[in-house]
Amino acid sequence: MEPEVVVRDVVKYYGSYPALRGVTLEVPRGAFQCIVGPSGSGKTTLLHVIGGIERPSGGEVVVAGVRLGELSDDELAEFRNRNVGFVFQLFHLVPRMSVLENVELPLVLQGSPREERHKAALEALQMVGLGHIDPRKRPAELSGGEQQRVAIARAIVTRPRLVLADEPTGNLDSESARVVMETFLKLRSELGITIIMVTHNLELLGYCDRYARMRDGRIVETRLLVPEGGGDVEPAGAVRGH
Ligand SMILES: Nc1ncnc2c1ncn2[C@@H]1O[C@H](COP(=O)(O)OP(=O)(O)OP(=O)(O)O)[C@@H](O)[C@H]1O
Ligand SMILES: [Mg+2]
Repeated sequence: MEPEVVVRDVVKYYGSYPALRGVTLEVPRGAFQCIVGPSGSGKTTLLHVIGGIERPSGGEVVVAGVRLGELSDDELAEFRNRNVGFVFQLFHLVPRMSVLENVELPLVLQGSPREERHKAALEALQMVGLGHIDPRKRPAELSGGEQQRVAIARAIVTRPRLVLADEPTGNLDSESARVVMETFLKLRSELGITIIMVTHNLELLGYCDRYARMRDGRIVETRLLVPEGGGDVEPAGAVRGH
């Protein structure tokens, strides 16, 4: 089966600065891939090129069998809206909108009818374990962990194939972080989505089934994390299945 995400020899320059210097990574469908590495090593940049927020300067990104480099800007935006959900460290919820309106937002962009949007948003809130909260509340009336789960509900409301999370627990206490991780595991098993998560918190690696470590714009180690007994070290940049 073709991997859900293929990153091949990707290079990304900001001006003359190489933020990514030749990254190769394959993520199978349904995987929970973690990416770790020091500040400035290129983790966010890699998520952005995988999610089609930015285009690489060289190399190739294939998501769900689609070569992103062959899409026009409009097609890329459309692909992103339909297939990719983003979760950020600072939640990025709209403060003056209700929880429900925040979750509905991607569907507004898709032009879905109001009733459908409401239904999908309530379902998404249910799925992240927030079925009990009043969806008319503003984000500020929720705890940090609840706000992040609202952001996850917004990321999955379009039923994306892929969720990209950039330090989603960076601003959460450890209990809220645990709940967010459990939410990801549940979404993965119930919806079959693939998750790629950047984290600084090594304790969260226990939730992932594979990890990649970046340094200076390169992947320097990849590892399969097997729940019991160690895991299997691969050479840096190894392409599985070859
Ligand atoms: N828009 C940009 N313009 C110029 N340089 C950038 C831009 N975005 C990132 N960079 C540079 O590219 C490098 C990689 O940045 P990136 O944000 O991917 O790092 P990161 O691994 O996510 O770091 P952190 O853990 O601090 O979030 C950094 O040196 C950064 O300064
Ligand atoms: Mg970053």
